[in-house]
Amino acid sequence: MKVRISDDALALACGADIVAAGFKKAGVVVERVSSWGMHWLEPLVEFDGVGYGPVCVDDVAMIIDGRAQSIGRIEDHPFIARQSRLTFARAGKTRPTSLDDYYATEGWIGLAKAREIGAAATIDVVLESGLRGRGGAGFPAGIKWKTVASAVAEQKYIVCNADEGDSGTFADRMVMEGDPFMLIEGMAIAGFAVGASMGYVYIRSEYPHAIAKMEAAIRLSAHLIAPFVIEVRVGAGAYVCGEETSLLNSIEGKRGEVRAKPPLPALEGLFGKPTVVNNVLTLATVPWILAHGGDTYAAFGAGRSKGTMPIQLAGNVKYGGLFEVAFGITLGELVNEIGGSTASGRPVRCVQVGGPLGAYIPPSQFDLPFDYEAFAAADALIGHAGITVFDDTVEMAQMARFAMEFCAFESCGKCTPCRLGSTRGVETIDQIIAGKNVDANLALITDLAETMKYGSLCALGGFTPYPVMSAIKHFPEDFR
Ligand SMILES: Cc1cc2nc3c(=O)[nH]c(=O)nc-3n(C[C@H](O)[C@H](O)[C@H](O)COP(=O)(O)O)c2cc1C
Repeated sequence: MKVRISDDALALACGADIVAAGFKKAGVVVERVSSWGMHWLEPLVEFDGVGYGPVCVDDVAMIIDGRAQSIGRIEDHPFIARQSRLTFARAGKTRPTSLDDYYATEGWIGLAKAREIGAAATIDVVLESGLRGRGGAGFPAGIKWKTVASAVAEQKYIVCNADEGDSGTFADRMVMEGDPFMLIEGMAIAGFAVGASMGYVYIRSEYPHAIAKMEAAIRLSAHLIAPFVIEVRVGAGAYVCGEETSLLNSIEGKRGEVRAKPPLPALEGLFGKPTVVNNVLTLATVPWILAHGGDTYAAFGAGRSKGTMPIQLAGNVKYGGLFEVAFGITLGELVNEIGGSTASGRPVRCVQVGGPLGAYIPPSQFDLPFDYEAFAAADALIGHAGITVFDDTVEMAQMARFAMEFCAFESCGKCTPCRLGSTRGVETIDQIIAGKNVDANLALITDLAETMKYGSLCALGGFTPYPVMSAIKHFPEDFR
């Protein structure tokens, strides 16, 4: 008798260890696997080919004797069956730090392919795939790699951005905790392609399980990726350290302050050397692309948004979790059909897409397709593809204030529009909430948002206007 239970941080927080101990006590072999990403069902267990969830320790005996209500084969669950899992193909199925499991599920095929076809052809495959950066800006990965490959330097670096600061996002964490060899393989392919022998994974300190799994997986696979070497660096809890130049400063042991661009990190990055900085999901998708072909990946998606996106449904949503799907799906499908609308049962008032700097989008715009260009045209951003759902009890003036307050709290302080603009922004919204000179203050906040958008050194100050102005535009009644 064998049971499979996730050891992902979310499953642990829901009591997976206690359930696992219950099965062990009953004489069942317990296998700790990655998470399927159906958060509302955690702790989810797979016993005798079918799933049960959420399970508590009192259910163990009933599951063993077949008296408990199962959800059927987990792979057939509509939440999983509707997905196109390429990056998350192993989710729920393999033991995170088992090299045997990784080998058995197409592991290391991408790296072998890269070594077989050579560095330049590897970059061509990534270019052909149309893969764009999953960290927020959506910049084509192949073009960044090509720039670093063309730079002449004795030392180049691959830096994996695993800061995952956006609210309501967890896909990077799930990769690192659930499928760390995939990220390692992606970094090794990047290193091979651009001529870098050293890589760093910059992980936020709030992810202790991810740090432990990555360190273990790096030790176990060092001989497979040699001469490429990877080390983990741990952040100290600043949102701005997810911005690539702050992140580089932080790895160098300096204060996490944004650098002016140019020079681009691709030319003068870590320790002044040419550096690829890519998000976890960007790098983790590369092994699949190399193994299956750039054209196969590009066949998924819509327009210039190629491939699949691991979308993260969070906040006040009934069925929250990880939903990987080809670009082009609408927000309405994601929130209402897949997410099942709010967990509270009240009407959805809006969603925020793309973390704390993302726009608030009302249900009247839920026909918006998940696509970089379509979102940009609607004054919104996909970011790291976190969708946070709010019901009709949300107060949008408070949310606008929160965006400015967040920016003031997290600003690195280097540029004036972000450092001072955000503080003045909080004060101005406070005036509006208090009903003082509302028209004049709304005009002032609009002007301030323009200044922050165009005058800030990085997207922290530059994107804070998105949540603020979208709240004012779509929910004007909350400001009067
Ligand atoms: C304030 C701020 C925070 C950011 N946080 C993250 C983050 O947590 N993770 C991430 O991958 N990118 C983050 N980014 C984007 C990075 O600067 C950069 O674009 C990204 O790491 C590049 O990788 P990609 O091309 O694979 O997306 C942030 C940007 C800004 C302005």
